[in-house]
Amino acid sequence: MDRIKLDYTNVLSSAVGEEHGLRPADLEAIAASSDAALAAVQARRTKDLRWLDLPHQDAVQRDVLNYAATMQASFKSGEIENVVVLGIGGSALGNRALHAALSSPFHDIARPDGMPRLIVLDNVDPDLVGEFLDTFDVSKCLFNVISKSGSTAETMSQFLVLRKRLIEAVGEEAHRKHIVVTTDAEKGVLRPIVDAEGYASFIVPDGVGGRFSVLSPVGLVSSALVGIDVPGLLAGAADMDERCREAPFAENPALIYAAIQFLMQSKKAKPMAVTFSYSQRLACVGDWYAQLLAESIGKRKSLAGEDVFVGPTPISAVGVTDQHSQVQLYVEGPFDKWFTLLAVERADHTVEIPSQYADHDALSYLGGRTINELFTAEREGTRIALTDASRPSVSIQFPAVTAHSVGQYMYLMELSVAVMGEHYGIDAFDQPGVEAGKIAAYALMGRSGYDERRQEIEAAQGGAPKVV
Ligand code: PA5
Repeated sequence: MDRIKLDYTNVLSSAVGEEHGLRPADLEAIAASSDAALAAVQARRTKDLRWLDLPHQDAVQRDVLNYAATMQASFKSGEIENVVVLGIGGSALGNRALHAALSSPFHDIARPDGMPRLIVLDNVDPDLVGEFLDTFDVSKCLFNVISKSGSTAETMSQFLVLRKRLIEAVGEEAHRKHIVVTTDAEKGVLRPIVDAEGYASFIVPDGVGGRFSVLSPVGLVSSALVGIDVPGLLAGAADMDERCREAPFAENPALIYAAIQFLMQSKKAKPMAVTFSYSQRLACVGDWYAQLLAESIGKRKSLAGEDVFVGPTPISAVGVTDQHSQVQLYVEGPFDKWFTLLAVERADHTVEIPSQYADHDALSYLGGRTINELFTAEREGTRIALTDASRPSVSIQFPAVTAHSVGQYMYLMELSVAVMGEHYGIDAFDQPGVEAGKIAAYALMGRSGYDERRQEIEAAQGGAPKVV
């Protein structure tokens, strides 16, 4: 089986020294509370943390695959050329991560025959939305409107813009075939619209928050539409679930990763968590994790209601590209970071470097080797440089980038973050800071019920702005 592995040798004091590295005793000391944290998380599996069970939702998987199969004729005939996700945050980052990881990096430029592009329109920058409207024929698009709450202003405004455009382009009746909605079974404004319009739709189940929803129809529908191996993805996640559900600390990668994150911040003063993907394909998976970590652990209040202001700052970097922009800081800058290197053992391609210019030393050593060897050497070079400079790192080793290994990784990170929440003593599943911004935007846009907040904002803006 293509199991992913967590190698934490280089986070230990034996590799990076006592000041920055963890002693085995540090890990032993957190083992019992880690096991208890896992038990506490798993006890909520059938209650409010139903995302834990998403890999096993066979009926949902079948419905998603059936829907994707019904759309194949439209893709093959050229009637639909683009699948466009209208969503944001947890309703978009996983879609992009899966597509980037599991489709060709050039899928959307050199579109394979009979396959749609996947465009994730996760911003309301008018230059993005406007350029989309100028560039694409909406009558050749299938819009996957994704919003768990069914009320997020960004997604709803895009829905309103694109629905109108669709109706103008193809007519009231035909526009319905161009929209598939993923939302709550009952809450929010989208569900009654789905019922009234007869749009195809999928449910974001209860107990599945936005950033934990990638393995629900939120992430699966667009993935199935662009030909990603959804059964493989879920099987990988299910394997990781089985591996971590009850395993004790020493054998449990989710518990060890969560403990390292917590100890790096609380004991080693490293608030920056860098995910360094040595895989172009996994770059957006790093972005997906950044949201998972930031929104889950970045909290003002403890579970006891006290102000604690905790949370690591996630950073997503891509090897080798960011060796030439960020590694200088990582190796010589402040000792405030720890690193997770995503390493892929087997690439899909082997690219040989032909021997040329034998009399130029700067080129001749490359000839006869492979780009693969160079890529591995660069990754190992970075790991060694970090270790030599006393910068702790772990490696998550992917045998290859497949739906199965990505499913394992995503589930591993989700469970790990849930356990981190217990260590940090905060609620990892709410997002009051995000809600505060949403409420302020509703107030500024004149949504009914938000007048009082609008008045507060206006009153607070009393002073003259300082602008140069
Ligand atoms: O993780 C989260 O909960 C958020 O990032 C949400 O996914 C994001 O705010 C979008 O919310 P919704 O899916 O309700 O439109």
